[in-house]
Amino acid sequence: MCGIVAYTGSNPAVPVLLNGLRRLEYRGYDSAGIAVNTPDGISIRKSKGKVSELAGLLGEDETQIAESTCGIAHTRWATHGPPTTINAHPHAGGKNGIVLVHNGIIENHHALRSTLTAKGYEFLSETDTEVLAHLVDSHYQGDLVDALTAALKEVHGTYGIACLSEKEEGVLVVARRGSPIVIGVGEGETIVASDASAIINHTRQAIYLDDHDIAKISQNKIDIRSSDNVPVSREASEIDWSADAAEKGGYEHYMLKEIFEQPEAIRNTIRGRMDSERGTAVLSGLDLSPRELAELQRMLIVGCGTSMNAGLVGEYAMEDFAGVLAEVEQAAEFRYRNPIVGSRDLVIAISQSGETADTLAAVREAMDKGALVAGLVNVVGSTIARETGRGVYLHAGPEISVASTKAFTSQVSVLLMAALKFSRSRRMSVEQGRRFVREIEAIPELVERVLAKNDEIAKIAEKYVDQTSAFFIGRGYMYPVALEGALKLKEISYIHAEGYHAAELKHGPIALLEKSVPVIALCNDGPGKDKTLGNVAECQARDSRVLGIVTEGDEEAMAAVNDYISVPPCPLHTAVIPSTVALQLLSYHIARLRGCPIDQPRNLAKSVTVE
Ligand code: F6R
Repeated sequence: MCGIVAYTGSNPAVPVLLNGLRRLEYRGYDSAGIAVNTPDGISIRKSKGKVSELAGLLGEDETQIAESTCGIAHTRWATHGPPTTINAHPHAGGKNGIVLVHNGIIENHHALRSTLTAKGYEFLSETDTEVLAHLVDSHYQGDLVDALTAALKEVHGTYGIACLSEKEEGVLVVARRGSPIVIGVGEGETIVASDASAIINHTRQAIYLDDHDIAKISQNKIDIRSSDNVPVSREASEIDWSADAAEKGGYEHYMLKEIFEQPEAIRNTIRGRMDSERGTAVLSGLDLSPRELAELQRMLIVGCGTSMNAGLVGEYAMEDFAGVLAEVEQAAEFRYRNPIVGSRDLVIAISQSGETADTLAAVREAMDKGALVAGLVNVVGSTIARETGRGVYLHAGPEISVASTKAFTSQVSVLLMAALKFSRSRRMSVEQGRRFVREIEAIPELVERVLAKNDEIAKIAEKYVDQTSAFFIGRGYMYPVALEGALKLKEISYIHAEGYHAAELKHGPIALLEKSVPVIALCNDGPGKDKTLGNVAECQARDSRVLGIVTEGDEEAMAAVNDYISVPPCPLHTAVIPSTVALQLLSYHIARLRGCPIDQPRNLAKSVTVE
């Protein structure tokens, strides 16, 4: 949510900042801005809308801006104040020429604004960030680090900040609490960003700041301190994916590229983690001591949105195979309802970004209550990965499209591996374990077979493009698929969509069915199919057109629905993945036909770092 880039070095800053913003635009895209040190002070340019509009403002005749070698930039997802040019970052504070960009929320901004107004500060915008800029100015006595350190002591809330002062040319000061800051260490230059995708073109050496760190960066020096101004050491680590991984690679949209990357992403997720001889999965991040294992009472899975939907598959598999009591909970709810959780519970936090505020808060709550906590995270070095200390990386590669696709299928793959691992340490025989290993290893090929139907799915999408509302239904393992299918459709095509348990439809939502409201039914062959086909008939009796996800060769299911997409035969716990891929493609094509901005749907941002 919001993207920050900053640069100091010997090259012109503006191209680095603009390229970085383009990479981070998926985090927020309602306005953008840039500020650079020039011999005449700090120049700020901002604009409503996308980064391309900001780039258009930076005319070639602005020599001082073009020649600057130090600056900060921001792409915004509005929290306080609508997406206008005035509310766009950077914001300037007071008389000392303090300019900053911020990702996060200053919760006590009202109180601070009143105090600063009483001191004579004038506000131009409605943002919490401008409060921060004036606050830093109010503490400035010639040293930006000291001023920021003092200001942050008065602030409640979350922040990733990059700050300039016109009195300290070439110096960047950055700080984090709750919102990520990565420092890319180059040769004679430093690039700071909200995530590694904005720095990978310049360097692979990254330092991930911890909460409460404040860093002063000049061309050749990075000095990191704690909030008490004590020097701290943070090792640089190597970013292990290439710049190409964050490009569209010839696809029209990142989402389509990421859908097509899934066979490879899943292969990377399971690589080196399957032990076919012992019929188990090797996930050292989920190793429990014999005592912890013996005492394990329950697994609690927390996440938001798509990650929570993946968690539901994990719940089913864990109970189904391992006989471990498992529950999924919305991370946002977990934190505030004072859950009963303790040292005999394993809490698994699922998050693609590893930065989602509610999931992070749930992790902290679970740790405070003494639970065992593991992260299931894609972004290496992210806050959840670091705070949990144990867990499993997805290795799905960067996910740029706001709508999550390959992260979901990698998450489900890990959860199936976790179910296998726990099952084998309990009741499952080696033979059953070996079969499970083969089923998981078959997933990438199952996905390839669905991707081969892309053109067919695009044709089916044409029939569903004009709807205003749709229902997705499924039962058992296909229930989370229905939830995920509906989420994908609504977020990228703006068609109102609801995912329901197939049986639950009759308890209310069926009242909404009519000719113009289609139903997408997960009718995969396996336990529960007959009942779902019964529900399909109920929908058709209310004039709804039914699109079925069916198993290849299942004539009965094909005949029962109006249209179908077939997926390869496989057990239902793995059918979750190819079936979801079919629905991802369906949503993608519907949204494309409707002319929607697929990679950047309105009002959304990739990484939700505010509650
Ligand atoms: C939907 C989507 C969101 C995220 C949710 C959690 O396509 O992307 O629902 O799944 O915001 O994000 P992470 O997984 O980064 O914690």
